[in-house]
Amino acid sequence: MSGLVTGIQGGFYYAPTIFARVKNSMRIAQEEIFGPVVCVLKFDSDEEAVELANDSIYGLGGGIFSSNTARAERLARQIRTGTVWINNYHAFGDFCPFGGYKQSGTGRELGQSGLAEYTQIKRIHVNSFPAVESNFTMAILSDQTKFAFTQYQCPTNVISGHGCLASIYKEIINLGCRRALILTDPGVRKAGLTQLVQDALVDFCVGVFDGIAQDTDLEIVDAAADLARSLQADCIVSVGGGSVIDTGKAVCVTLKNGGRANDHIALFRLQEPQTPHIVIPSTAGTGSEVTNVAVIKSKMAGRKVYIVDTRIVPNTAILDPRFTLTLPPVLTATTAMDALTHAVEALTSTLAQPICDGQALQAIRLIRENLARAVADGRNEKARGNLQIAATMAGWAFTIAQVGLAHAMAHTVGILHRVPHGAACGIVLPKVMRFNVDFAADKLALAAQALGVNTAGLDERSAALAAAEAVEALMKEVGHPLKLREVGVPEDSLLMCAFHAIADIPSLFNARPVNDPQEVFELFQQAY
Ligand SMILES: NC(=O)c1ccc[n+]([C@@H]2O[C@H](COP(=O)([O-])OP(=O)(O)OC[C@H]3O[C@@H](n4cnc5c(N)ncnc54)[C@H](O)[C@@H]3O)[C@@H](O)[C@H]2O)c1
Repeated sequence: MSGLVTGIQGGFYYAPTIFARVKNSMRIAQEEIFGPVVCVLKFDSDEEAVELANDSIYGLGGGIFSSNTARAERLARQIRTGTVWINNYHAFGDFCPFGGYKQSGTGRELGQSGLAEYTQIKRIHVNSFPAVESNFTMAILSDQTKFAFTQYQCPTNVISGHGCLASIYKEIINLGCRRALILTDPGVRKAGLTQLVQDALVDFCVGVFDGIAQDTDLEIVDAAADLARSLQADCIVSVGGGSVIDTGKAVCVTLKNGGRANDHIALFRLQEPQTPHIVIPSTAGTGSEVTNVAVIKSKMAGRKVYIVDTRIVPNTAILDPRFTLTLPPVLTATTAMDALTHAVEALTSTLAQPICDGQALQAIRLIRENLARAVADGRNEKARGNLQIAATMAGWAFTIAQVGLAHAMAHTVGILHRVPHGAACGIVLPKVMRFNVDFAADKLALAAQALGVNTAGLDERSAALAAAEAVEALMKEVGHPLKLREVGVPEDSLLMCAFHAIADIPSLFNARPVNDPQEVFELFQQAY
């Protein structure tokens, strides 16, 4: 054989040999020869070289020689071998993992990965509640509708009272920030409220974004996040109602985690604190300044979508009643009905618990005592301040206990017919209270007392029904719309609305199970 070495007989020696004009399909190219033999194959492009290199059942090592290191690195990433040397060959280091792809061995020697071969990974899952009746995941799969655990988290620093806006300077410093971007909407800006905040922030304000539409959408969040990035903002200050605050929450998540807003629509995925967020609410209602949810419209999905996470609860809420003095009567009434709906639905939800019950009942009381006063005299600062506190307390209650069917119905007419959220909540709430009466009579009877109903001599069920009447009476007193027809919902869409609402997440927590579209359709008809 040509490769035998002359002068060395009686052993297995082979002279170094180069094979030219080899094709990759040949056995000599495909098998590992463990001898001083090399095959030469030609290629015309980087892609062809990668294709040749990868056309093998083996993948231990490879090498690239080039005067262009960047190009060589690009190819190295595409070659499926355990090691690729660039402008070198067969250099080893005890800190470098060694091992192959495909049929060139299992695992790795050397380096961190080599040590990992001597370890096993174990997952230990600990459910913090050993009792089955306190275990959310177990209970949700069972017939058990009520959970027996109580947990309460309210991480927001809430500051309330006339002039408390001034504390924003200290709050920004405490959060370790220096470059605040204000988010707001044109109505709030026109009312002069944004300027108040700019004045309070002095040189900590790097810009204002006021392009937030009612019921914000993902594109608006992206536009605000782009501006925040270009200004290198390190915190967000949201000045406005729920539309602004929810935009702020989603912007904070997008800034922290990169990408677009739609990438972050998820439940309980965030691992770290988000971009700091200070909130100054200017409506009477959402409580979003302390809640763990951002509700955003997705044009692509044709519905409202949610980020739900404890990590998005704002750091600071500044409840300065001066920010709600300019809110027109009709918006005062409708946004306060949003808060009342939070309170009633948290009180009756399947996740209700005693701490939330207390928050919810006090919120209901404060709304009953102050709403008509604030509507009659928008500049009644005491009434305004109490409504802000009611909204915050209702927000706390529903963050833990969730809401129910009234919210699912309100979200639906909000997305399909642009009905403002608070107005829709108010219109459907008494109907849903009656629907739930046999599943939450005890709680609704408590709500009746908080609404000022004299329940003496009434059985629980009658008191519960009286609560629904008291809500309707309050709405009439403050000029709140009473029918869906008044707010632009077409009658022929009610059935479609029912199917939509039944699939909305809050339905899951409603006191009475929501599983029949016909029943929800009838509720929409009653509210029409
Ligand atoms: N994340 C939550 O916990 C939560 C809870 C409830 C509702 N929401 C969401 O909040 C949104 C509704 O928020 P909203 O009801 O606060 O209304 P909004 O933020 O949509 O504001 C309504 C209108 O009121 C005007 N306005 C606000 N404050 C004013 C003031 N002081 N003076 C004059 N005009 C003022 C605004 O310019 C706007 O035109 C909905 O998208 C809803 O889904 C979120």
